[in-house]
Amino acid sequence: MATLATTVNGLNLPNPFVIGSGPPGTNGNVIGKAFDEGWGAVICKTISLDADKVTNVQPRYGRLRARNSQEIIGWENIELISDRSFDIWVDELKAVKDKYPDRILIASIMEEYNKDAWVEITERCQDLGIDAFELNFSCPHGLPERKMGSAMGENPDILEEVAGWVNAVAKVPVWAKMTPNVTHIEDPTRAAFRAGCEGVSAINTIRSVLGVDLDTLRPEPQVEGYTTPGGYSCRAVMPIALRMCMEISRVIRDEFAGRTLSGIGGVETGEDATQFILLGADTVQVCTGVMKFGYRLVQDMADAMLAFMEQHKFDTIDDFKGHSVQYFTTHYDLVARQAEARAAKKVKSANAMIQDDAQWSGDDFVDQSDALARG
Ligand SMILES: Cc1cc2nc3c(=O)[nH]c(=O)nc-3n(C[C@H](O)[C@H](O)[C@H](O)COP(=O)(O)O)c2cc1C
Repeated sequence: MATLATTVNGLNLPNPFVIGSGPPGTNGNVIGKAFDEGWGAVICKTISLDADKVTNVQPRYGRLRARNSQEIIGWENIELISDRSFDIWVDELKAVKDKYPDRILIASIMEEYNKDAWVEITERCQDLGIDAFELNFSCPHGLPERKMGSAMGENPDILEEVAGWVNAVAKVPVWAKMTPNVTHIEDPTRAAFRAGCEGVSAINTIRSVLGVDLDTLRPEPQVEGYTTPGGYSCRAVMPIALRMCMEISRVIRDEFAGRTLSGIGGVETGEDATQFILLGADTVQVCTGVMKFGYRLVQDMADAMLAFMEQHKFDTIDDFKGHSVQYFTTHYDLVARQAEARAAKKVKSANAMIQDDAQWSGDDFVDQSDALARG
């Protein structure tokens, strides 16, 4: 019988579905709800030692809808890390661990570029019995103005130094959460692993401008008529997250065997989550999906992943983890493979509409574009 149970960095999870840091893990009450509904692990909303420096605005979300269906496909937020005091978090995390001693609770933490602060927050959280850390090196708005979040994650040297401070005192696994707002995600990934992190999480939100209101001429979301670039999440970001996870998987496979990847970005279904695992993720996180569909989503995700496993006769997550990474190659190699396949079939091109770029015509342009998506 297929099982979703999995062990990652020594942590035993009933399934690979993890609540990503954000509103779905923002206090003890909702963390308990997530465990009750069956989530495999919860990463709390990012906490810091001094929440007095964190002031949120409203509105702080903006949403992009599909033109025809009104479905929300993109979500921008300008929300900061948790605005709740560290002392309250201490009480709530402890209460959650007391009530759910066997469930995996991961503390997302962030501090300024200050060794003492990172050491203090690490030691105080692990004294509560949390199971692992996720270091938020990736929030793209607000915090970078204080040299935190993605301001650290964009700089592999600083990331390596700060992750090293944490790893020097952490007794539980440490994951570094990557920002996608870099050219090559492999560079901060290697820095995190060199610093001793057991895993990385990818991706945090993509720095974005949601749109401009054509009546008011002001960009969204508007706070007293102004805005600031925010972080983009939801379905629209999944292809970018998948690409970055694939690149991280290759770094793990080729240079850091045994380290782990927690995939995140646009996951809303078991089929979405399965694709992240096929590209090498050990676990899959969901944040915006829970804000759209609620905590029960995990049950549909589990059913869909089990159905996929049964279809392919996979018994465990490890049976298909990373399977699809082998099918990535260079464009040069694609050309060679296609020439070989066509020579074997004795055809110049499978596509009658476009044999070379001179055949594009203004009248058939849409049909020709469609034909090149089909093959
Ligand atoms: C409203 C909101 C708040 C978030 N807050 C945090 C946070 O405090 N810490 C963090 O590491 N990521 C935070 N994130 C990023 C998510 O954890 C996740 O990396 C990103 O949204 C992509 O995944 P998704 O499409 O499943 O939301 C937040 C995302 C949203 C939408």
